[in-house]
Amino acid sequence: MSVRECPPFMLDNALQFSHTLLKEILKTGDVVVDATMGNGHDTLFLSQCVGTTGKVYAFDIQESALVLTEKLLSAAQCPPNYQLFLAGHETVAQHLPPDTMLQGAIFNLGYLPQGDKTVVTQGSTTLVALKSLLACLAVGGRIVLVVYWGHPGGETEKEALLDFCQSLPQKIWHVACYNFINQKNQPPFTLCIERRR
Ligand SMILES: C[S@@+](CC[C@H](N)C(=O)[O-])C[C@H]1O[C@@H](n2cnc3c(N)ncnc32)[C@H](O)[C@@H]1O
Repeated sequence: MSVRECPPFMLDNALQFSHTLLKEILKTGDVVVDATMGNGHDTLFLSQCVGTTGKVYAFDIQESALVLTEKLLSAAQCPPNYQLFLAGHETVAQHLPPDTMLQGAIFNLGYLPQGDKTVVTQGSTTLVALKSLLACLAVGGRIVLVVYWGHPGGETEKEALLDFCQSLPQKIWHVACYNFINQKNQPPFTLCIERRR
């Protein structure tokens, strides 16, 4: 093999792996949450996973995120299976219809690349959102978090999340961490919380 050729199989990066984990379990008609809408790439992915009969609830605190996401989903001709909220994910419980049963959710933490780098997710509000979402996760459902933590405040959020995830009782929750352990500069990693019963 020449040095220029790529091997046929390569490990997913943290973001790709978050989609792989959700793709495995999501099906048409499922209800899901994008807790950090940003440019809308995860919202689009979720909309395509759950189809016309499913529903995606997406959250962001920046109005530009809603504008860009709406544009992306319209351009991709997504069905009207999504609802975008200009609201912090910590308010998710107030926005989901009563008795919502979720099959999945995604968080993409940190700041929006090409956006305002001072607007970052915070451990305290991320944990409020995560607990609300766990409370309505169906058995077999998964919440995935792509944890970017190289920015100021990122390490505090990472530690708070790991502490919380490690304390979840294993009879109910399986928690996995996908991490590249030989990369420099605080590489992002993926956490997945799965409800077992
Ligand atoms: C890494 S970006 C998300 C990227 C996005 N998933 C995409 O596909 O483009 C993180 C996003 O989280 C948003 N954010 C920060 N705090 C938030 C909060 N409390 N609730 C919801 N979104 C928040 C930021 O505004 C930013 O757009």
